[in-house]
Amino acid sequence: MLLVTGAAGFIGFHAARRLLESGAEVVGLDSVNAYYDVGLKRARLGELARFANFRFVEGDIAEPGVLEAAAPRDALEVIVHLAAQAGVRHSIEAPFAYERANVAGHLAVLEHARHAPHLKHLVYASSSSVYGDRTNGPFREDDRCDAPASLYAATKRACELMSETYARLYGIPQTGLRFFTVYGPWGRPDMAYFSFTDKILRGEPVTLFGDGKLSRDFTYIDDVSAAIETIIGRPPAAAPPHALYNLGNSHPNTVLELVAAIEKATGRTAERILAPPQPGDVTVTFADHSRATAAFGFAPKTGIEEGIARFVDWRTQR
Ligand SMILES: NC(=O)c1ccc[n+]([C@@H]2O[C@H](COP(=O)([O-])OP(=O)(O)OC[C@H]3O[C@@H](n4cnc5c(N)ncnc54)[C@H](O)[C@@H]3O)[C@@H](O)[C@H]2O)c1
Repeated sequence: MLLVTGAAGFIGFHAARRLLESGAEVVGLDSVNAYYDVGLKRARLGELARFANFRFVEGDIAEPGVLEAAAPRDALEVIVHLAAQAGVRHSIEAPFAYERANVAGHLAVLEHARHAPHLKHLVYASSSSVYGDRTNGPFREDDRCDAPASLYAATKRACELMSETYARLYGIPQTGLRFFTVYGPWGRPDMAYFSFTDKILRGEPVTLFGDGKLSRDFTYIDDVSAAIETIIGRPPAAAPPHALYNLGNSHPNTVLELVAAIEKATGRTAERILAPPQPGDVTVTFADHSRATAAFGFAPKTGIEEGIARFVDWRTQR
């Protein structure tokens, strides 16, 4: 059995759908929290419910007994752990939500994995934010990651360190994926590409923090979900069995370029309001993904214009 935590979330939904299409027996677990539109999370679950090989359990991974009830350890072979409190800016307002979901939640998943006798691989989400606020990209997995710019980043780095410990202590095969600004259809309304698109479609102005010059290595969801499916079958062989990979496009775009792509896809002109950066924001994210390319052929194919056009198509049909 394959467990996907965070299956009602953006990346979890896409990963689960791809695995279901390939015929896997998938159990989805998610607390369906109200961090953003619960209707969108329910709609994603509605899509997954079309598959006979899908079962969904609603619950909090950090709550004792929930993981065992959803995916009993004796039957568990693979965990794709994507549940988390995401979002950099919200970690300023609600720090304890991050401690609960990301630190206590990740530890609960590790403890469950530790006692699952047939577990072949635990694949989990990390983040480009672990690299901190630096401008000397591209970022490589071996670079130092000890200056997080937000509590969110600190919790994601804590997940990596806890995983490293469990790989060393118990030999649990694990792969951590440092995602770089993943976007696309069924995406997250708290992310800039989504809220900008809605505002531009409504004719409202968009506020560009950092004067629109912040840049992000926008990575299209299908490139990421395809990589997750491949990685599941490639647990690390070396001891301790823990690998980290950047999953990023290796082609950063500024926020101004993002807005231009949305304008092109919507056929509208945006009214821009320039503003200073917000606390926790980093200047740039930029992946060197050569390690993932060498290990499993990761080769993202979708540029921002094409990816944003597909997102806008989806958004205007909903
Ligand atoms: N989307 C990105 O650009 C991006 C970038 C870097 C890292 N990540 C990481 O990737 C993973 C997936 O992100 P996403 O963009 O799909 O976010 P998301 O918010 O859409 O999905 C996360 C899901 O986890 C669920 N959840 C939160 N706390 C939970 C708990 N305690 N128990 C059970 N479920 C819980 C939420 O309800 C949500 O559906 C997260 O770990 C996130 O930190 C995402």
